[in-house]
Amino acid sequence: MGQAITEWHTRAQEIKRGKIAQANDDSAWEELVRIQRSSTVNIIDFDPDNEIAIQQAANLLVEGFKVHWPDAWPDMESALREVRDALQPSKINRIAVDDEGTVMGWVGALSEYNGHAWELHPLVVRPDQQGQRIGSALVADLEAQVRARGGITIYLGTDDEDSMTSLANTEGAFHAAGEFCKRVQVSKKC
Ligand SMILES: CC(C)(COP(=O)(O)OP(=O)(O)OC[C@H]1O[C@@H](n2cnc3c(N)ncnc32)[C@H](O)[C@@H]1OP(=O)(O)O)[C@@H](O)C(=O)NCCC(=O)NCCS
Repeated sequence: MGQAITEWHTRAQEIKRGKIAQANDDSAWEELVRIQRSSTVNIIDFDPDNEIAIQQAANLLVEGFKVHWPDAWPDMESALREVRDALQPSKINRIAVDDEGTVMGWVGALSEYNGHAWELHPLVVRPDQQGQRIGSALVADLEAQVRARGGITIYLGTDDEDSMTSLANTEGAFHAAGEFCKRVQVSKKC
């Protein structure tokens, strides 16, 4: 599975760099779909009526964030609220599923500025499946989804509760920016 995802990531990068086709070319989209179909992990729309996927996605939030962001979604109740809130038709929600339909990862985004910009929220991969390019594949897929809707920008905000970002840790030129970010205290997890 890891190899298939890596291949998809590489091809998506090539599309992005214009090596295969222009990023907004229909053939690029076809290529992404073809690669996705050849992978044992599929990235599909998150069906708001799929209760099993909803439970699994909520579990991803609890398990995926508990180490570094223990207050984010400490239990299934808060995580389920988050999932159901995310599953509005105006938002993008894509999940990576295995052959049995088990959710391996989830990426979402919400539209801002009349659809020109999209805020990435959330991004999570099941802890035992991390490091296999599923996260990269989800982000590449999201890029294609945003592009297909006429969006030109994806952005995200992040809390840094565990001093994990280089911005907050860097001395010198970025120190002031890191302090600024800490003061702003972005209210949402990315
Ligand atoms: C962040 C996350 C989505 C990455 O998913 P993944 O499938 O493991 O990531 P990939 O295998 O596609 O790796 C993509 C890149 O990120 C890097 N990366 C992955 N996890 C990382 C981490 N914890 N710290 C630093 N870099 C990391 C990889 O080295 C890789 O870098 P490269 O492209 O330069 O080789 C996953 O670790 C996760 O769910 N974490 C918990 C939730 C979270 O932090 N969400 C994002 C913030 S809201």
